[in-house]
Amino acid sequence: MIIPSIGTLLDTVPLMRDASKSGNLTVLRSLLGPAYRGLIQQRGKAEATTVMPVRHGAHFDWHYLRDHTELARLYEAAKKGQWNATTDLDWSIDVDPEDDRRALVPTEFVPVAKLQSWKRLTPREQSQQKLALTAWFLSQFLHGEQGALYAACQVTEAVPWLDGKLYGSTQVVDEGRHVEVFHAYLTTKLEKKYDINDNLYVVVDALMTDSRWDMKFLGMQIMIEGLALGAFGMFQQTTMEPLLKKLLTYVITDEARHVHYGVLALEEHLKVLSEKERREREDWTFEVCLFLRNRFFAHEFYDEYYAHQMSRMAWDQLILGSQMMAMFRRTMFKRVIPNLKRIGLLSDRIRPKYAELGLLQYETGKAAPDLTAQDLIEDR
Ligand SMILES: [Fe+2]
Ligand SMILES: [Fe+2]
Repeated sequence: MIIPSIGTLLDTVPLMRDASKSGNLTVLRSLLGPAYRGLIQQRGKAEATTVMPVRHGAHFDWHYLRDHTELARLYEAAKKGQWNATTDLDWSIDVDPEDDRRALVPTEFVPVAKLQSWKRLTPREQSQQKLALTAWFLSQFLHGEQGALYAACQVTEAVPWLDGKLYGSTQVVDEGRHVEVFHAYLTTKLEKKYDINDNLYVVVDALMTDSRWDMKFLGMQIMIEGLALGAFGMFQQTTMEPLLKKLLTYVITDEARHVHYGVLALEEHLKVLSEKERREREDWTFEVCLFLRNRFFAHEFYDEYYAHQMSRMAWDQLILGSQMMAMFRRTMFKRVIPNLKRIGLLSDRIRPKYAELGLLQYETGKAAPDLTAQDLIEDR
């Protein structure tokens, strides 16, 4: 049996309080199993491999109707947009964390750079910590991409429309390539990799094990992809390391298509659901927002470098007040909120809850498909 650390239990308290905010018992029940496995058992850390039971049905279509024009267009765009990570990226670039002209992350972006103890570090030690922080983020990208790969396989099976399945087949290849590039960058360039963040595990587990395909879409295509786009965009804009910048530019272009697919599919599907079913999705999405909002505290990085000099609570405050977290939140919710509004999951009933979190300010932003990959790359 795995015994959770005090830190894990303390983390769990605010999470479980958050997990009841929507007041929807069905939603709370569906998140309890994943939360137990992720936060208490810490399966993403305690096991070398995790088997998650899947319960969805594979949907066969013997009529092979090609009647979803926009999805068909997206499929064509995806075929043209394929790239080869082996030949299209210059893997001969030498990543030197001590070269300031090619810094992985700028110093003002590093939350700990405000601390007196940081100022006492040698330039070499500072570079090592910047590398470690970058490796922590990229490791979460890698784990998220593994989830995206399997979720893309599942939705390809489960979506009822042939045009959706054909498009989904390209997303499977895209996500496989993303696993490939993040893993290669971490292992050959940074030579450091971290375990999955417990909160990310909870969301991945919840959508992998849910039997409803549209919940997988919501969780993966809108929420996790939205989060990933925020984080990818933040790094793409701030890193001066050319290989990482190029790699993220390619990945962002693929992800923009994935979010577009999620919006198209859900917009159509949610219209045919009952009001009760729609409400459940609305509450579920709100809960997932809470899980993802402020939970990227890089505790594994803290354990390695700062646990001896400050409490976990002080650390969380430092991260929450950092420029990095502010930019991350902004880039993430600027994408997610307009998309939720477009697919019909931002009704008057749930708006006050989002307003409480200060997230309604983003609702007038561009939603997919008007939001292009170029917007995502250029738009701060
Ligand atoms: Fe991806
Ligand atoms: Fe994706």
